[in-house]
Amino acid sequence: MLDFMNPSTLSETMSRTYPMLMHPARITRIREEAYAIATYELAFEDESVRLSYHFQPGQFNMLYLPGIGEAPISLSSDPAQPGVMGHTIRYAGNVTQAIGRLQVGDVIGVRGPYGQPWPIDQLRGQDVCIVTGGIGLAPLRPVIYAILQQRQDFGRVFLLYGARTPADMLYTDEFEAWEKRDIRVLQTVDRAAPTWKGHVGVVPMLFYHIRLDPRKTVVLTCGPEIMMHFVIYEALARRIPKERIFVSLERNMKCGIGLCGHCQLGPTFVCKDGPVYPYAAIEPFFAVEDF
Ligand SMILES: Cc1cc2nc3c(=O)[nH]c(=O)nc-3n(C[C@H](O)[C@H](O)[C@H](O)COP(=O)(O)OP(=O)(O)OC[C@H]3O[C@@H](n4cnc5c(N)ncnc54)[C@H](O)[C@@H]3O)c2cc1C
Ligand code: FES
Repeated sequence: MLDFMNPSTLSETMSRTYPMLMHPARITRIREEAYAIATYELAFEDESVRLSYHFQPGQFNMLYLPGIGEAPISLSSDPAQPGVMGHTIRYAGNVTQAIGRLQVGDVIGVRGPYGQPWPIDQLRGQDVCIVTGGIGLAPLRPVIYAILQQRQDFGRVFLLYGARTPADMLYTDEFEAWEKRDIRVLQTVDRAAPTWKGHVGVVPMLFYHIRLDPRKTVVLTCGPEIMMHFVIYEALARRIPKERIFVSLERNMKCGIGLCGHCQLGPTFVCKDGPVYPYAAIEPFFAVEDF
């Protein structure tokens, strides 16, 4: 029985009935992460919306600026604290560059969360190998937070992470805390600086520095598609089944809820059936470029 006098139940019902409903959210914090990349923390203006909003690792919001447009942006914050929505944004085009000109206290439109999440429950009892490059770590950071919440439920956890230069790496101030909680972090860059202590080379090469058990490892990957191709190649070479490799894809989006067809991938829509897919489900379409 729905309690319509309860504001939080009411806004949950409204969001289900009107899935494209936009809500104003205020920027509460901006944190520079790397060149032309920053994390924006947003809080819904309406308390009932704020209280009823929940997301799962891997989901995204549509961020809207009046007169400019909308862009899908992953949630990069802790799903256990849904009142603070973190979005790590690279200033790429119209919407994201305009967001880059905003200040703490400014308001933008937010609708979501949308999309299929990373399969956290399927990871329980398994070794988890997270492989990512550049801003691809953003939609995977909530996975790391979810694992840290119940670290004992998961086996060995690896983060294989690469960026162009050390200065392009995200969230580096958190790596030490993650390692203390038994997450093994391996870093690589294309171009090293004199003080660099990690590896130099492409991300998939990091597979050669760890030993995975194919019977109980799940691989999660997000980043440039060319990187993910080689990640999948290395994972398959280690006899990790296709069903245990998960990828997060990006495609041009408009509606974000499976109505307009802009994000079609084979018989699926990335906004609704993805962005996270088991590789086995999309293997034939993975090489098809967006247009
Ligand atoms: C599910 C999903 C999750 C995503 N999560 C994130 C995320 O967490 N963080 C994030 O930053 N992005 C994320 N993206 C990507 C983001 O949505 C796109 O980059 C989006 O197009 C940005 O909107 P825009 O209006 O700023 O850029 P658009 O105007 O749409 O630009 C699109 C493309 O054109 C290029 N472009 C546009 N203008 C210029 C210019 N002046 N010079 C050179 N190139 C230009 C951009 O590089 C970009 O590739 C995600 C996408 C999807 C589908
Ligand atoms: S963005 Fe409209 S169907 Fe996916």
